[in-house]
Amino acid sequence: MNQPARLAVFLSGNGSNAEQIFSHFTNYPTITVALVLSNNPGAFGLQRAQKFNIQTKAFNKNQFYESGVVLNWLKEEQITHIVLAGFLWMIPQSLIQAYPKHIINIHPALLPKFGGKGMYGSKVHAGVKAAGETKTGITIHEVNEKYDEGKIIFQARCEVLPEDTPDSIAKKVQALEHSHYPVEIERWVKQ
Ligand code: GRF
Repeated sequence: MNQPARLAVFLSGNGSNAEQIFSHFTNYPTITVALVLSNNPGAFGLQRAQKFNIQTKAFNKNQFYESGVVLNWLKEEQITHIVLAGFLWMIPQSLIQAYPKHIINIHPALLPKFGGKGMYGSKVHAGVKAAGETKTGITIHEVNEKYDEGKIIFQARCEVLPEDTPDSIAKKVQALEHSHYPVEIERWVKQ
């Protein structure tokens, strides 16, 4: 399908993946990042979006889970696909029903291992290290009503060496994220 797509990116913090996505789709003919949304008004990722002249909005729990304000913003902006890039809140049913198979997430490990509630950020890499894994990586997946359990779209792997620390693992995984997430989003949108 090559219909024009309008993406909304949700983030909660730093937004380094989001920035790679903004950059990848700058001047891209059929895919536009139209809106960047956050539960955290102070998220650095919102500043990154503003540098790319992308509209940003922050929201609270009520606007996300109760009143439907966030869903209305998505409709107003004619958003076709939702990209989660370091977004820490659970996605409400209403959003999943409005965008079935049109929400994508990235997880910094090889799901189904090291996923689920509470598994985010450095906790994931600490878990990988503690379990003595020799490989870790990234998982890009569709989002359904369960944490980290949607259809897996893509995985990439890297080695975990005995001398690796959670921090050094995080760096390797982040490099994989930055190089793969934008192109995998592109492929997913165009499928
Ligand atoms: C990434 O590791 C991603 O896999 C996870 O959250 C982190 C976000 O990092 N979902 P950043 O905000 O993109 O720098």
